[in-house]
Amino acid sequence: MEKKPFIMGNWKMHLTLKEGVEFAQSLRDHLSEKNTVLCGICPSFVFLKDICSVVEGSDIFVAAQNIHSDESGPYTGEVSAVMVREVGCTHVLIGHSERRHIFGETDTFINAKIKTALSNNLKPILCVGEKLDEREDGRTKYVVKNQIKDGLQGIRADQMGDLSIAYEPVWAIGTGKTALPEQANEVHSFIRKILADEYGEHVANTTYIQYGGSAKPENTEELLAQPDIDGLLVGGASIKLESFLKIIETSLSVIG
Ligand code: PGA
Repeated sequence: MEKKPFIMGNWKMHLTLKEGVEFAQSLRDHLSEKNTVLCGICPSFVFLKDICSVVEGSDIFVAAQNIHSDESGPYTGEVSAVMVREVGCTHVLIGHSERRHIFGETDTFINAKIKTALSNNLKPILCVGEKLDEREDGRTKYVVKNQIKDGLQGIRADQMGDLSIAYEPVWAIGTGKTALPEQANEVHSFIRKILADEYGEHVANTTYIQYGGSAKPENTEELLAQPDIDGLLVGGASIKLESFLKIIETSLSVIG
């Protein structure tokens, strides 16, 4: 890995406002000297404004966990790109497996969200990954290729600098089963090849591709040591300050 490690904490539907604010304050204090890591957190929508205020002026960025594809409209319970941008978010997760598989998001919807994020100055992190049966049937690459191709439909090369990808095998999310580093890297390099075919070598090499799925302090080093793994999207291990900081520390030692 040659880029600065890109470490994101996806808090999902965890932490209270008080816990989130305290976490963000401590993270800010710990990271004040360490700008060699790209670090972000994805709090609940309702805390975004508070957390953005806490980390304002630091290098930590705040991402929303989702947006709707329209900029406004009669969508009860939904949140727009304009809204999350307005409260200070710079990034947004798009197509997380829980959105795809629990809430039925399609590649078409995901593609529309990516376009809306980009046109509203939000950097999307497109999440892709195969389910267990798909891996067992030997369809991992087929599934991931379709998610990338359909998710990036109509996205131009000059927009790719604002976008990153997270490869998260669904069977490894929240299960304690991490993909073997080589197994993950094989899919990462396959994703890079898809990007090279579509957008050229420069885009393929500069696009950040994070791994996610039971990433934790104990496996950070071996994952980040892989040539095509540029960072981690961390769920469970990101809601405890100690383990998230350990992941960040370890990622610095891999590049340092
Ligand atoms: P996990 O979640 O680290 O708890 O497996 C990762 C994710 O869903 O982004």
